[in-house]
Amino acid sequence: MTDTFAGDSTQALPAELTLEEKAALLGGSGAWATSPIERVGIPALTVADGPHGLRVQPATMDRTDLHASLPATCFPPAVSLACAWDPALARRVGEALGDECRAAGVSVLLGPGINMKRSPLCGRNFEYFSEDPALTGALAAAWVDGVQSRAVGTSLKHFAANNQETDRLRVSAEVDERTLREIYLTAFEQVVKQAQPWTVMCSYNRINGVYASENRWLLTDVLRDEWGFNGLVMSDWGAVNRRAVGVAAGLDLEMPSSGGYGTRAILDAVAAGDLSTELVDLAAERMLDLVDRASERQDLDSVDADAHHALAREAAAAGIVLLKNERSLLPIDPDRGGRIAVIGEFARTPRYQGAGSSRVNPTRLDDALDSIMAAVAGKREVTFASGFEIDSEEADPELIAEAVRVAADAEVVIVFLGLPASYESEGYDRTHMNLPDPQLRLLAELAAVNSNVVVVLSNGSAVLVSDWEHHARAVVEGWLLGQAGGSALADVLLGLVSPSGKLAETIPQRFEDNPALGNFPGEHAVVRYGEGLLIGYRWYDARRLPVAYPFGHGLSYTSFDYADLEVGVKDNGPHPRVEVSLTLTNTGTRAGAEVVQVYVSDPVASVFRPAQELRGFAKVSLDPGASTRVILELDDRAFAFWHSGQGEWIVEGGAFGVRVGASSRDIRLTATIELVGSDSSTRLSIDSTLAEFRSQPAADRWLRTQLQNGTYGERLLDTELGQMYESVPLRRLARLPESGFSEADIERFLAES
Ligand code: BGC
Repeated sequence: MTDTFAGDSTQALPAELTLEEKAALLGGSGAWATSPIERVGIPALTVADGPHGLRVQPATMDRTDLHASLPATCFPPAVSLACAWDPALARRVGEALGDECRAAGVSVLLGPGINMKRSPLCGRNFEYFSEDPALTGALAAAWVDGVQSRAVGTSLKHFAANNQETDRLRVSAEVDERTLREIYLTAFEQVVKQAQPWTVMCSYNRINGVYASENRWLLTDVLRDEWGFNGLVMSDWGAVNRRAVGVAAGLDLEMPSSGGYGTRAILDAVAAGDLSTELVDLAAERMLDLVDRASERQDLDSVDADAHHALAREAAAAGIVLLKNERSLLPIDPDRGGRIAVIGEFARTPRYQGAGSSRVNPTRLDDALDSIMAAVAGKREVTFASGFEIDSEEADPELIAEAVRVAADAEVVIVFLGLPASYESEGYDRTHMNLPDPQLRLLAELAAVNSNVVVVLSNGSAVLVSDWEHHARAVVEGWLLGQAGGSALADVLLGLVSPSGKLAETIPQRFEDNPALGNFPGEHAVVRYGEGLLIGYRWYDARRLPVAYPFGHGLSYTSFDYADLEVGVKDNGPHPRVEVSLTLTNTGTRAGAEVVQVYVSDPVASVFRPAQELRGFAKVSLDPGASTRVILELDDRAFAFWHSGQGEWIVEGGAFGVRVGASSRDIRLTATIELVGSDSSTRLSIDSTLAEFRSQPAADRWLRTQLQNGTYGERLLDTELGQMYESVPLRRLARLPESGFSEADIERFLAES
């Protein structure tokens, strides 16, 4: 399985290859390998899914069966890894994954998936990090760094605007450029600039009508020319539409093998003069660069499966989010107390990852029931009842009755609820955000006999909680936690670990409140991103909507105090840098970790801006009573918006709010800073409006002088009447009789200024 490499360097090779060989190099061989060119010793590289574990399918296995793959550690999928808000942890998981690749002879791990969670219904949300680009970008960059520190490549996917599964191979995401730049491309940009992934995987869908696989603006102008990406672009599996157009756009490698179809298409296009040999050479060189990079890898005989399982457990515990904990029902004392009732099939049959190409065959699997029983063995009694069948939509009265009996006189009842695997998967979207009815019926009946109910959730994307959470004193959002999720849940429930996860996605009160409503999943192969910038909390904040649990929320068994905020502006110019510092104190009685979040607001701006946006965060561990000074740096992008007219990032001078808190709706400290920024005023043209001319002092002065030559002046400058004319382009005003100036006058002024 190990890729063997014959030479020291492939640098000299492009010239030695025939056009046919170069074209062949640009297509896969089989499902999981690139094409070798044996004549000159170019090896095939093995690639594998990803992202949260390895799915390696040797040729002896049925490759059409997603369930057939070699055992590998199933780390927490992105949905829960994100809730740890811990780049250092993401990096360590990346390193471990890199080592598993080294032991399996894998050159490129196909991940991370960093698309934004635009709708809670996206079937693949479990594989994505967040509704926020800054959180996604920071975590994914660390993960990529970790994998690549082992000389194993990554494939940043799915580039771009692949935010749904419905019609994913054809749908056109209709998104304005500012929204693309500020929301949907931002995390890709951050990871490319910070971590240089070896490869980027283009998505299936179209963006504003153009397939990602044929999108030169995306794959070349933005990715390479603006961001400086120096790796290879590969297609998602089967994402190629017109192969030669793809090569010209910057799509280097087609995956998987198209059985020679792609190679022929490239050669035919060259023969017809539709594709230059230079572009084929360029793509082939990038393929050879990848082979070169992969040749650095030192393979391992094996990995330490126990150590990786322990890391998977640590990461899973860090991603668990304690949503509520009335009168400190949690943690449950493992050493003393009455009987613990564990209810719900998910306690025994964990749901720990999502379905589709990312599915891993775990090296082992912890379930919560066994883990809890082992932790309290000999000290507390535990009884179990399943309460429901995971895949059934019909409540089973006998199972419910048995569960109620078990719960009735227990000291505490832990109920494991969640989504059946069939509810969320790659390839299709959810149709609602509810838990199955039989589970909710069970919960209501348990609450009727016992008031100490803890609900533990297993789900790959947010579920509605508002209709049922009054039945529970504590709610633990356990997401999908990977193979060690069961033991990690026991660690948190029993207080061996204080929860420190924070929501990476908002849990709305009602499905109808969600930002993509009415614009998801689109129709007739078109989906309009009508909410624009207002994804996730940006929407709920703009609308001042109450939510069940806000972005960034998560409780702890200890408490934290925020004090002494200082915000210092450095380089107060067009590219400001700002230092935010504060004192964080653990005021409780247990060790714990807090995620300090920094949001920025721009209350007065010439363009619409979200009420606040996450611009920095830090995860800080503190012993009881301990304090530390937390320092965060914000760069110019923390304050900038994408100026669509000028096609650049602009920091508009003025006041900005710096808001520091424990969640997006639990802001503890605020400060206002004044930034000089850069001139954001629109460059004037003959089609600029009267208001635009008047907003710039020199142009205003010129205009006033001109108006004195005509008779319209008074009307145009009148504070009331003039408003009517504000949006009239100057070219049109010049045509009015008696305006006092001509088009030639305007052109002269613009040329001279
Ligand atoms: C998925 C990718 C995956 C590829 C290979 C595609 O269907 O969208 O994320 O890496 O298959 O399995």
